[in-house]
Amino acid sequence: MPDITTDVLIIGTGPAGSATAALLSSYGIANMAINRYRWLANTPRAHITNQRAMEVLRDLGRDVEDEAYMFATHQDLMGENIFCESLAGEEIGRMKAWGNHPLSRAEHLMSSPTKMNDLPQTFMEPLLFKTACQRGTQARMSTEYLRHAQDGDGVTTTCLDRLTGKELTIRSKYLIGADGGKSLVAEHAGLPFEGKMAVGGSMNILFRADLSKYVAHRPSVLYWVMQPGADVGGIGMGLVRMVRPWNEWLIVWGYDINGPEPEVTPEFATGVARQLIGDPELEIELLSANIWTVNNYYATKTSNGRVFCMGDAIHRHPPSNGLGSNTSIQDAFNLAWKLAMVLKGQAGAQLLDSYDAERAPIAKQIVTRANQSIGETGPIFKALGMAEGVDPAQMQKNLQARTEGTPEAEAQREAIRKAIAFKKYEFDAHGIEMNQRYRSGAVVTDGQIEPAFQLDADLHYQPTTWPGARVPHAWVYNHATGAEVSTLDLCGHGRFTLLTGLGGEPWTKAAAQVAAELGIELAIQVIGPRQAHVDHSGEWARLSEIQDSGCLLVRPDHHICWRATELSANPMADLGRALRAVLAR
Ligand code: FDA
Repeated sequence: MPDITTDVLIIGTGPAGSATAALLSSYGIANMAINRYRWLANTPRAHITNQRAMEVLRDLGRDVEDEAYMFATHQDLMGENIFCESLAGEEIGRMKAWGNHPLSRAEHLMSSPTKMNDLPQTFMEPLLFKTACQRGTQARMSTEYLRHAQDGDGVTTTCLDRLTGKELTIRSKYLIGADGGKSLVAEHAGLPFEGKMAVGGSMNILFRADLSKYVAHRPSVLYWVMQPGADVGGIGMGLVRMVRPWNEWLIVWGYDINGPEPEVTPEFATGVARQLIGDPELEIELLSANIWTVNNYYATKTSNGRVFCMGDAIHRHPPSNGLGSNTSIQDAFNLAWKLAMVLKGQAGAQLLDSYDAERAPIAKQIVTRANQSIGETGPIFKALGMAEGVDPAQMQKNLQARTEGTPEAEAQREAIRKAIAFKKYEFDAHGIEMNQRYRSGAVVTDGQIEPAFQLDADLHYQPTTWPGARVPHAWVYNHATGAEVSTLDLCGHGRFTLLTGLGGEPWTKAAAQVAAELGIELAIQVIGPRQAHVDHSGEWARLSEIQDSGCLLVRPDHHICWRATELSANPMADLGRALRAVLAR
C-alpha cells in the first residue's frame, strides 16, 4: 500500500513544476508537488520573462499576471544593453534590447496583451507556487525523489522524507519530472539525449551595492564587460546583471572547464566584482557565490509511458536569450491541459503523445539557439582586435586606435557597430520567443501549407492562424462595456474555444452539440457588430485569415488545432471530426 495517492505527482517546484501544479489545480486535477529543499529558489537565476510566459500567467488569472508586474522591473528599464571595459570605464557600444527599440516595441505591442519584464526567479517561483497551493496543490517540501516504477495503471514513486530520514511511497496516475538540469527522473525514465553537458564553466556572484551612478543614466538589465579572462568559459563575456535597480546585482564570470574548479571565496568574489565594476575601493555586501556549468544538451524524447519530463530536465543550456524558465513554463502550459482532459476521461491517452511531438523540437531549438548566442559574441572581441584573448594593454591601444580619423579607424568603428548590432539574435529575438508552431496528432490540418516567414523567424514574430500556431492577439471590444479584450483572453482557461463571426452561426450550434456529446467545455465566441465582442479596429479581420463565416478551433493552450476558412456544407460533421481527432476519441 502506498503512503500517499494523488493523480499527478510533480518532482520539483521550480518554474516548470510550480507552473504545472498551478495549472493542474486550476483545472481541478488532484496533484502533489515535492521539493527536496525546504523552500524555493534561493538565488535569482532566471529573470527575463517573455510575453509568451506572461500569457501563461495571464491565463492563470489577471491577479497572477498583475502580481508578476508588481514585483518585476518594468520593460522600460531593461533596454540599454551595454558593452564596456568596466562599469566605471569606457563604453564600447550598446544596443536596445528586450523590445525597447521603437520598432521592436511596436512588434511587442502588436503581438500580445502582455509585457516582457524582468522578474527574478526568487519572485516568479513563489508566485507560481502560491497560486498552485491556493488552488489545491498538496506541496511537500524536504522530500527527495529517489526512484520510480511504472505499470499499466500508474506510477509508484519512492521518496525520502528528509526530516525523518524515512522513505515513503507515492502512487500517482502520472509522474512529472520537473527536477531541473540534473534530473534523476529523466535518467530513470531512460530519456534519450543529444549534445554535451559541461561545455563551459561559469560562476554567479550575488551581491548588494548601490551602483546607480554607473547605470541609472543608461538603464539596463545586462552590462557586458570586456576584460582579461572575459572570453574564457562563461556566457560570452563578463556580465554584471541587475537583479533589483540599482542595488542588487549578479555577476556571471567564466572559468576554464578543463582546468581545476575555482574556489569562489569571499575575497575572490569581491575581487571579481571590483574588477568588473572598475572600482577597486567598492564595498559590496556579498550574498552568495556558486559555480555552474554551461550545457548544450536536450532530450530527443520527453516522455516514457506515464512519466513526462519538462523544463531544464529536458533542455539544458546557458542563460543566453533568457529562454530557460520561460520555456519551462510553456512546457507546463502544453502538458497540463492534456493531462487534465485525459484524467477527466474527456480525451484518449494518445493525446499525451503530442507533448513529445510538440515540445521535443522546441527543446532542441532553444538549446541550440542559446549556445549559438555565446559564440556570436566572438565578432565583438575580433572587432576590438582581441580574438586571441583580452590583453589590457592591447585593448587600450585598440580602443585608442578607433578614435582616429583614418579609414582604418572608421572601418574598425563600423566592425564594432555591426558586431554589437548582430547580438539582437540574443537580446531582441522576439521570433524565437513567440513563433512556436506545433505539428502533432493534436493538430488537424486544414489542408493549407504552412505560411513561410516573411522576415527572419528568429527575430520577428509572424502571426498566423495556420493550425498548430498560437492564436494571434488582437484587441476586440466588449459590446456591453466597451472594455478592450485580447483574443487570447477569449480562449484558454482550461477549455477549448470556437472563434467565429457573423454568418458562422451554424458553427456555434455544431460546437454546442459536439461539446455536449463529448462532455467537454467549449467556449463559443462570436466576434462582430452587436455580438459579445466587436472588432472595431479591424485588427482581428486583418489577422484571422478566415472569412467571417469560417471558424477557428483553439486548444486550452491558445494553439489553433483546426480551422475552416468559410462555412462548410456540414459544420457538425467537420467540427466533430476535428475535435475527436485532437482528443484521440
Ligand atoms: P529548476 O532547476 O528551477 O527546478 C528544479 C526543482 O527540482 C527544484 O525545486 C529542485 O529543488 C527540485 N529537485 C531537483 N532534484 C530533486 C529531487 N531528487 N527530489 C525532489 N526535488 C528535486 N531562464 C529564463 O527564462 N530567463 C532568464 O533570464 C534566465 N537567466 C538565467 C541566468 C542564470 C545565471 C542561470 C544559471 C539560469 C538562467 N535561466 C534563465 C535558466 C533558468 O533558471 C532555468 O531554466 C529554470 O530554473 C528551469 O526551471 P525548472 O523548473 O525546469 O528547474
